[in-house]
Amino acid sequence: MSEHFEFTAENMEKAKAFIARYPEGRQRSAVMPLLDLAQRQNGGWLPDGAVDSIAEILGMAPIRVLEVATFYSMYKLSPVGKHQINVCTTTPCWLRGSDEVVHACKKSLGIGVGETTVDGKFTLAEVECAGACVNAPVVEIDDEYYEDVDAESMARIIEALKRGEKPASGSQTGRQTSAPDGGPQTLTGDVTVKSVKKSKPGKAKE
Ligand code: FES
Repeated sequence: MSEHFEFTAENMEKAKAFIARYPEGRQRSAVMPLLDLAQRQNGGWLPDGAVDSIAEILGMAPIRVLEVATFYSMYKLSPVGKHQINVCTTTPCWLRGSDEVVHACKKSLGIGVGETTVDGKFTLAEVECAGACVNAPVVEIDDEYYEDVDAESMARIIEALKRGEKPASGSQTGRQTSAPDGGPQTLTGDVTVKSVKKSKPGKAKE
């Protein structure tokens, strides 16, 4: 990949559509979707040229664009594998076993955190809270979230990806959305609703 970057004609149209969503004078607010668009065009990472190009399009100093690109872990500034495995290791995920998940990734992929497999298929990273703590531990792979992951399910997911399959995302334990782990915890017994006699209007109580 070259450091030079230019949006394709198709993506330039998409970029213009993103910019048009913001009011006059606020076009710089499109910096995040434009970085994402550039990253997708460039195989998952942002060369310096993309930062410069976006800065020019939005009339920003390149350092301002770079500040955004370096703040969010979703933007990558160096080449990555075809699949990016981002394991959340912030406290809720850590308390629920993210150390074992990271270990399973290292074992299945034969690489460490921050590394890419020699075949260029996988990059492993640790990230901060992915915003889905209720189903911790959480692993983001490409554009999908895998939740309630443990060492066994993580290894299974990686093996499926190696075979070129797309494993089912979401909870790996069958939890429904963010329902309590292990099923309902409240209102599990019979609920008796007592009928309430309504007094007739206008009739004073004796
Ligand atoms: S701490 Fe892992 S998703 Fe929030």
